[in-house]
Amino acid sequence: MSERWTPDSWRAKPVVQIPDYPNAKALAEVEAQLATFPPLVFAGEARNLKRALGRVAAGEAFLLQGGDCAESFAEHGANNIRDFFRVLLQMAVVLTYAGALPVVKVGRIAGQFAKPRSSPTEKINGVELPSYRGDIVNDIAFTAEARTPDPQRQLMAYRQSAATLNLLRAFATGGFANLGSVHQWMLGFIKDSQQSRRYKELADRISDALNFMRACGLNLESHPELRATDIYTSHEALLLGYEQAFTRVDSTTGDWYATSGHMIWIGDRTRQLDHGHVEYFRGIKNPIGLKCGPSLKADELLRLIDVLNPDNEPGRLTLINRFGSDKIGDHLPSLIRAVQREGHAVVWSCDPMHGNTITSSNGYKTRPFDRVLSEVKSFFAIHAAEGTHAGGVHLEMTGQDVTECIGGARAITDEDLNDRYHTVCDPRLNAEQSIDMAFLIAELLKQDRGNKLKSMPAVAGL
Ligand code: TRP
Ligand code: MN
Repeated sequence: MSERWTPDSWRAKPVVQIPDYPNAKALAEVEAQLATFPPLVFAGEARNLKRALGRVAAGEAFLLQGGDCAESFAEHGANNIRDFFRVLLQMAVVLTYAGALPVVKVGRIAGQFAKPRSSPTEKINGVELPSYRGDIVNDIAFTAEARTPDPQRQLMAYRQSAATLNLLRAFATGGFANLGSVHQWMLGFIKDSQQSRRYKELADRISDALNFMRACGLNLESHPELRATDIYTSHEALLLGYEQAFTRVDSTTGDWYATSGHMIWIGDRTRQLDHGHVEYFRGIKNPIGLKCGPSLKADELLRLIDVLNPDNEPGRLTLINRFGSDKIGDHLPSLIRAVQREGHAVVWSCDPMHGNTITSSNGYKTRPFDRVLSEVKSFFAIHAAEGTHAGGVHLEMTGQDVTECIGGARAITDEDLNDRYHTVCDPRLNAEQSIDMAFLIAELLKQDRGNKLKSMPAVAGL
């Protein structure tokens, strides 16, 4: 792997999950055009995120990453983006307060379009067509025309990503993310929540903190730290031709960066050491993620870390575990021990979604809220036992009131899935379930903080 790296050196390696485009010339033309378009993000921003994630790796911050399983062209609207960001911010406030740690906010957004599939084709009533691979590749409608990969869709995905990112940046710094208003939304949420008694204590303490600051003469709106926030974008960099077109040299350092998003990750199905995806990722300087599923062995993980983060740079690599609530106990501890033994600095993040997907009694792909929560709880317990930092969570979620995951405070049932099952791919936590999840994670973070304080001799007697 020590061969020379170029943005296209992945092309000489085997790749999986990249679609076959029937018209190679049309694809090459689109890729050439994309390569002339402005980048979506600036290398300096990716470095800022890497630095923030370095603090997560050191146990000094928490990562909150979330968004749609797959973005879609049909649902590209301002309300959707606003509602998602509003929920993410509400979650972030709760976690910041409970953990007394900065929360690094990363959306699965503004580029999360390409999907790996377990089967290259799908069969309905005896008709077999290519699988839907995300709006950047083909259309979900079940016709031969819709399912044929169309390179023009990459142009559309780029433009949608640019517009989405533009609005997010405006929200993040233009006043929408003001701490006072985020907390105000939270009070509204709690009033209507089934769990309001449970959440009220934490919310009251945040209210007290804000009121205390106001009483001291601090105007929340006039301080950038309280008025604005940072939001970063991320996606699975599956479609390497598209990624290559946005791989640019940073003029300030001379290094190569993926400029399609701040952080990109390698999926659990495309992390083969000798394949094209790992080859592409080793050459770019962005912070990157690696999805770790039950089939990943500790020695394989160590070899991947050597290739992906040879200089052991904190914040460069986030290991996103997705084992399933019943499997995490069998897999995570040995990975943590191997990584610790070798002295690698990584961010440990828990994706409690992908290992907990089941089929409901009426045929929907769904996820039980309790299983999602159970995987997160085990994640925290395992890190406490190993003496490592439970660094973050990676959630599939939306700001909309959909019915895709069962359970939660409002106890969504199998029958309810019929009502508003809108996802084009995996089931997402809805707005209420997402905030519920944040409160429950907040309790875990607070416990963690208590344990750490107790283990410090100087404050043990307090
Ligand atoms: N700037 C801080 C941060 O981003 C505090 C903050 C301002 C904040 N608005 C926020 C935190 C909204 C969470 C949500 O962490
Ligand atoms: Mn998914």
